[in-house]
Amino acid sequence: MTIKTMTAVALVSLMVALSASAGQKFGADRHVARGIACTMCHGPDMKNPNYPDENTCTQCHPKDAMAAKTAKLTPNPHKAPHNGDCTLCHMQHEPTVNYCAQCHKFDFPKVP
Ligand code: HEC
Ligand code: HEC
Ligand code: HEC
Ligand code: HEC
Repeated sequence: MTIKTMTAVALVSLMVALSASAGQKFGADRHVARGIACTMCHGPDMKNPNYPDENTCTQCHPKDAMAAKTAKLTPNPHKAPHNGDCTLCHMQHEPTVNYCAQCHKFDFPKVP
């Protein structure tokens, strides 16, 4: 490859990466991009949206299945003895946080 084609290839892949992430900044955007409508989390009346809680999330992400997926982590973020509500960590319209880190020092991987 010449330098010119290499630059072009790099530019194109950068553009593809940028457009893939456009509008998918937060969890809700990523859900919507996968075809999950606002109403799946907020109920049918978007003028008075329901405030989602854990039961909203576990319809599609059963708690036991989540705990099994991350069983190798200690402690398991999906089997917390306290403060385990999904949306304490997986905020959907703002950056996610490791909620436990307010009080503990756990090595969780980045919260998606
Ligand atoms: C109507 C079904 C549905 C509901 C309700 C739902 N999700 Fe999802 N979620 C999905 C699907 C489908 C994916 C993509 C496949 C996968 O990773 O399981 C996904 C992916 C994710 C991911 C992976 C990372 C990402 O953002 O791309 C996280 C974290 C997540 N959901 C958290 C939540 C939380 C927290 C709630 C509740 C506020 C929730 N989900 C409600 C269907 C749902
Ligand atoms: C303590 C913070 C925390 C809480 C509370 C939490 N999670 Fe997670 N979640 C994580 C972390 C960290 C990961 C990434 C784990 C990994 O990379 O192995 C993750 C990953 C996920 C994923 C993506 C798993 C995949 O397919 O790769 C989904 C979906 C998810 N969580 C849903 C939930 C749901 C539903 C709840 C509530 C029942 C919940 N989480 C509660 C921290 C949390
Ligand atoms: C995967 C579930 C999910 C999807 C899809 C989703 N939201 Fe949300 N929404 C939440 C959660 C969880 C909160 C609570 C705050 C947070 O976690 O960021 C919230 C909060 C809100 C609030 C504030 C509600 C209040 O009472 O303070 C509004 C408004 C809102 N969402 C609108 C939307 C719109 C519009 C869409 C579609 C473009 C959407 N949401 C898609 C989960 C979701
Ligand atoms: C507001 C502070 C606070 C937050 C936030 C918090 N913890 Fe704790 N945690 C404590 C305190 C204080 C103790 C020790 C007291 C006790 O053992 O009950 C503790 C004890 C524990 C223990 C050991 C005791 C047991 O019950 O097994 C585990 C494991 C734990 N926390 C996990 C978590 C996880 C996972 C999260 C995030 C989902 C979290 N904590 C969030 C304050 C917190």
